Amino acid sequence: MPDELLHLPVIQRILARDQGTPGALLPILHAIQQDLGYIPDAAVPEIAHALNLSLAEVRGVISFYHDFRTAPPARHTLRLCRAESCQSRGAEALAAQLREQLALDDHGTSADGAISLRPVYCLGACACSPALELDGQLHARLTPERLRALVDGCQEDATC
Ligand code: FES
Repeated sequence: MPDELLHLPVIQRILARDQGTPGALLPILHAIQQDLGYIPDAAVPEIAHALNLSLAEVRGVISFYHDFRTAPPARHTLRLCRAESCQSRGAEALAAQLREQLALDDHGTSADGAISLRPVYCLGACACSPALELDGQLHARLTPERLRALVDGCQEDATC
């Protein structure tokens, strides 16, 4: 049985609980992602049927919001700040370094499943920019060397 089908009982439980709620689509998508870590493709026809929507409507909403994942999450999530203060202190060069080191665009998951990149627009650390958040922990006053060391550490750490 494909892995995604193992998730069907979770999806069906969420649908049974939430499908009668007005504006149910977003709460259902959030609940599925919270419980499974992502929204498996197998969820799309189940949601569409339960809410009387087309597959394209459900997929359109999932793809519109960058916070929804359609693949299992990486072991680490790195959110580099791209807002003004960080931009003025070298965040764009750091973003380019990340793209090159991980062979990703600004929003994706490395092929080894180690790191997901997600841009963020201000972490509240403007006075110490450029800044990023790695697995919920703030790292400020970044340099290219510190960023490379953080990424190397994530890639070497295959256990978490
Ligand atoms: S602009 Fe980057 S932390 Fe505020």
